[in-house]
Amino acid sequence: MTQEPLIVLTGAAGKIGRRTRAFLKGRCRLRSTDMLELGEAGRGEEVALADLSRADDAARVVRDATAVVHLAGIPRDAPIDAIAGANMIATWNLFEAARDAGVRRVVLGSTNHVVGFYAPEERLDAETPPRADSLYGASKVFAESVARLFWDKHGLETVCLRIGSALERPTELRHLSTWVSYDDLNRLIWASLTAERTGFTVAYGISDNARAWWSNAGARHLGYQPEDRSADHEARLIAANRLSGLTERTLDAQFQGGRWAAEGYDRTRIERS
Ligand SMILES: NC(=O)c1ccc[n+]([C@@H]2O[C@H](COP(=O)([O-])OP(=O)(O)OC[C@H]3O[C@@H](n4cnc5c(N)ncnc54)[C@H](O)[C@@H]3O)[C@@H](O)[C@H]2O)c1
Repeated sequence: MTQEPLIVLTGAAGKIGRRTRAFLKGRCRLRSTDMLELGEAGRGEEVALADLSRADDAARVVRDATAVVHLAGIPRDAPIDAIAGANMIATWNLFEAARDAGVRRVVLGSTNHVVGFYAPEERLDAETPPRADSLYGASKVFAESVARLFWDKHGLETVCLRIGSALERPTELRHLSTWVSYDDLNRLIWASLTAERTGFTVAYGISDNARAWWSNAGARHLGYQPEDRSADHEARLIAANRLSGLTERTLDAQFQGGRWAAEGYDRTRIERS
């Protein structure tokens, strides 16, 4: 008897992972994993504690899996040792283990911060070369490049999701371009899991944003249909911005990566010296 495909979700205790876990439960056979406590397994679900920076843990959690949704990692800047362990070594271990276990597809939680140094006037797509805005962004450039390597060399399908700003609702002007609702992100993850073929695909994780900087035209084959729109929040955000006296001319506003790109920026000083 053939069993229903098993999906492994890493980072299942995290901000996005908790919601994706709830979404996937009942839709597929699920193994939720994190290095943090995950509580009781639900119906049709297993839970597994694992530190993916350890290769043996990664091998244990992907055993028998058909596909992996890899959300584990540190979603912000942190000391290099921490970023290297959680975002680089863990991702490498995950891909090695997935290949070894015969996993068919990995859906990788990447980030818009791989392209954060582009200006808001520029329109990007999946072919745009990376311009990471932070160590965090650079660690995800590494992760995407590992994904590409495993497709090119081993035929392991991958969808790199350059997630924008995952929030219940947008809270700042930048989010009018970058917002993704949790419901839309789950729709995108599901589309990435269920598309007939993905090969190596890069897609931006955003809702239906009229002010989007990123095109998902190249990833239409995923069949992702966002249902939420940042424009529904525009009037509120513009009014709040006016009240706070902030303008769109701050350093943050000069880069798509916002404050991530502005943090530690001293290029003017270097150019003058
Ligand atoms: N939140 C966003 O708006 C956003 C935007 C872009 C990209 N992302 C990416 O999406 C993913 C999830 O983000 P999040 O906001 O839910 O982060 P989060 O920090 O809330 O969750 C990440 C989870 O990964 C786990 N983890 C970290 N290191 C691990 C390890 N070595 N082994 C096993 N588990 C480990 C943590 O325990 C945590 O539960 C991350 O990869 C992040 O880079 C998030």
